Amino acid sequence: MSDVDFGSLDLAELAEVAADCTRCPLSGGRTTVVFGTGDPDADLMFVGEGPGAEEDRQGLPFVGRSGKLLDELLAQEVGLDRSAVYIANVVKCRPPENRDPEPEEIAACRPYLERQVELVAPRVLVTLGNFATKLLLDTRDGITKLRGRRYAWGDGVVLVPTYHPAALLRGGSERVAEARADLVRARLSLMEDR
Ligand code: URA
Repeated sequence: MSDVDFGSLDLAELAEVAADCTRCPLSGGRTTVVFGTGDPDADLMFVGEGPGAEEDRQGLPFVGRSGKLLDELLAQEVGLDRSAVYIANVVKCRPPENRDPEPEEIAACRPYLERQVELVAPRVLVTLGNFATKLLLDTRDGITKLRGRRYAWGDGVVLVPTYHPAALLRGGSERVAEARADLVRARLSLMEDR
């Protein structure tokens, strides 16, 4: 397992490897590996934190309450259905009781996300919440400080950090308005020439 060359795998092969993954203790508690879903050629990719209970049951990301809100905001602010984007998480297995993923778990799962981003090769990456944003921007700053602007990321990719939908469900209308503005940033970035 540890000698898998992630860089040689396509998305289907990567998903197969993930389905049997035991790189971290989260594998012991999962029902299903939540690898990722959507258009493998999407221009827009979302990265969340990790599966919750419903995602663990169905094997798909963002299918619970947070996902419903994400779908709504995506349709209203970007004009896209979830089938037109690619959605993945920082960790592919559900942390027990929905606790935060541990640094070792994030590190163990990181090669999957890195290869997913490489293969989907989105033009715009939207990170949802602290874990995805800190990992992909390689920073210790929090989402409140980082959101509200676009970042140049890698080779011509625009990264737009925003709140996690679960934080929006808790956080009230001001946060939702800020997240809407972030998604407009993503939409404008998609409309711009590279
Ligand atoms: N929260 C996440 O970060 N990801 C999911 O897939 C579901 C909820």
